[in-house]
Amino acid sequence: MSDLANKRILLGVTGGIAAYKAAELTRLLVKAGADVRAVMTESACRFITPTTLQALSGNPAYTDMWDPGVPNNMAHIELSRDRDLVLVAPATADFLAKVAAGLGDDLLSTLCLARECPLAVAPAMNRQMWEHPATQRNIATLRADGVAILGPEAGDQACGETGMGRMEEPTALVAGITALFGPQRLAGKRVLVTAGPTFEPIDTVRGLTNLSSGKMGFAVAQAAAEAGAAVTLVAGPASLPTPPGVKRENVTTAREMHDAVMAHAAGSDIFIAVAAVADYRVADPKDFKLKKDAGAPKLALVENPDILASVAGLPNPPFCVGFAAETENLREHAQTKRKKRRVPLLAANLAQHAFGADDNALTLFDDSGEHELPRAPKIALARQLVAHIARMIDRH
Ligand code: CTP
Repeated sequence: MSDLANKRILLGVTGGIAAYKAAELTRLLVKAGADVRAVMTESACRFITPTTLQALSGNPAYTDMWDPGVPNNMAHIELSRDRDLVLVAPATADFLAKVAAGLGDDLLSTLCLARECPLAVAPAMNRQMWEHPATQRNIATLRADGVAILGPEAGDQACGETGMGRMEEPTALVAGITALFGPQRLAGKRVLVTAGPTFEPIDTVRGLTNLSSGKMGFAVAQAAAEAGAAVTLVAGPASLPTPPGVKRENVTTAREMHDAVMAHAAGSDIFIAVAAVADYRVADPKDFKLKKDAGAPKLALVENPDILASVAGLPNPPFCVGFAAETENLREHAQTKRKKRRVPLLAANLAQHAFGADDNALTLFDDSGEHELPRAPKIALARQLVAHIARMIDRH
């Protein structure tokens, strides 16, 4: 049975260019088994027609507060009453402001005010509009009101600019609302996650680091929080927003990451080591800027502590999950790493596909063998990984 079988979703569409993706979203929701009813604002109809959503959903698409076809003429009450979720995608800055302020001046905003079921929104707008303090205030208000915020994500925008504000892709939105409906598989569990690169100083302005963006680790932290866990994220230098509900500690070097992790490890049920930790640091970093005149510096390197091995070696260790980014011989290296650190589960990926990208593909190695998680947005993979961990813990 599909994940969204028998789920009744009211899909609200507002007037932004991402409205064209509402067609694909409707198709995917229906394919996943959901019953979709669309409600569109007047501006949404400038980008996509009600006929499109009506044809794809198999249900009438509504646009008017005064639709005489709705029983008792109360479309704003009637349309959400039998629904399990209202999902507004795309949600414009204007629409988010309206819902945050409790305004109801058209069918969709009034319906959001009158609904009894949960509300999820997928913001989509120009990056300046997203970063504007008013929008950020509204998002904080919506979050505090219990509204699920899906995305946005960073990337190229229709206006030609690049930045945060793109609507999450329809596949990611479907995964997101599936998670909202999903069981709280990690309720009551404390999960510790490392993410990002580390930075090992050479002098006061230079250092050794790597190309890890932190996206996978942040997605894993988000997925664990969605599954009901209390999540602590120890993050190396990464310019990513903290996922909702996650407690974040920022660190710079591998030794700082080690100390932060060890302070929480004993009190954790699960440790997921996603960070790309530098294996070596400079033995004698300078507390001034090295000058070129002094000639090429000779850098002596010393080994950093192995964080995952330290946690896995504790007398009563949490359930440990390792990651491996390889450029070749994925299977062989992954098996060796899992055995070396004696962890029950290891997620392996190809570094050339993973670092910095929004999508990835993972192979999970555990005692029962190999499990392929095909290419998908990192958040969708993270949710599958969390589900796999939950199943392993249940069997423990
Ligand atoms: N790891 C860690 N502390 C380190 C190095 C690695 O916790 N000092 C963790 C990583 O977060 C990852 C796993 O160990 O979960 C494997 O990391 P990786 O760098 O791939 O392993 P290495 O054994 O260092 O292998 P390589 O020679 O490929 O660097």
